[in-house]
Amino acid sequence: MIDHLFRPQFTPPIQRVLDRLYSETIEQDPVQRAEAQSAGLNHDGEHGFYQAMAGARMPVTPEFGTLLYILARSSSARHIVEFGTSFGVSTIFLAAALRDNGGGQLVTTEFVAQKTASAAANLREAGLDDLVEIRVGDAMTTLAHDVPQPIDLILLDASKELYLDILRLLEPALRQGGLVVSDRADLDGNDGGRSSAYLAYLSNSANGYRKASITTEALRRSFAHDIAVRV
Ligand SMILES: C[S@@+](CC[C@H](N)C(=O)[O-])C[C@H]1O[C@@H](n2cnc3c(N)ncnc32)[C@H](O)[C@@H]1O
Repeated sequence: MIDHLFRPQFTPPIQRVLDRLYSETIEQDPVQRAEAQSAGLNHDGEHGFYQAMAGARMPVTPEFGTLLYILARSSSARHIVEFGTSFGVSTIFLAAALRDNGGGQLVTTEFVAQKTASAAANLREAGLDDLVEIRVGDAMTTLAHDVPQPIDLILLDASKELYLDILRLLEPALRQGGLVVSDRADLDGNDGGRSSAYLAYLSNSANGYRKASITTEALRRSFAHDIAVRV
């Protein structure tokens, strides 16, 4: 993912940690994915997939990460909730925005415990750990209480079939004008996301959102993202 798309835009130590994490992704994620596939685990809806990928970083693309930073900055976000920490790449982009907004709180969650230790170390190295609380466990439990309110931005980047449930869980705390941003909701189901209850919910204007869908590129692949605002 360090390719022509990823021009260094942050200052050390943040840029140094991001560069390392993207380099590690290129080296190690394909190995982890091949092992998961040989165990018959191909995508994120399958039971055991994320445990099999415990050593994989699976970060947002550099372009999408930078967009997360821009969205959090331009909405003057102070309170952010993230579903899917992994090694903390998206968390770093978002926490960097909180820092540049003058401070705030980011709650993120991850159920593979060994990943949370790595994410915590990466955030420390980036100098952003004071802004982030990492909750270990299943998001439906860990995000069901004490989220920072009002929420300015929600990032969904984990099990696609839970996107709608997590959004509904957090929705009472999401402010008007708040953002709901998600990664790869098109992987929900076997039909290119057409049956995604989450995308259908955001697309129904009666539910109070306006949504745009975009793609970013990395390593010659396209990745889908959805960005919605609560009107
Ligand atoms: C695509 S990765 C997140 C990548 C991260 N946002 C980044 O940019 O570095 C998804 C992560 O969500 C975690 N996950 C999946 N389902 C979860 C759940 N129900 N509760 C908590 N974590 C979950 C997986 O273990 C995995 O590490």
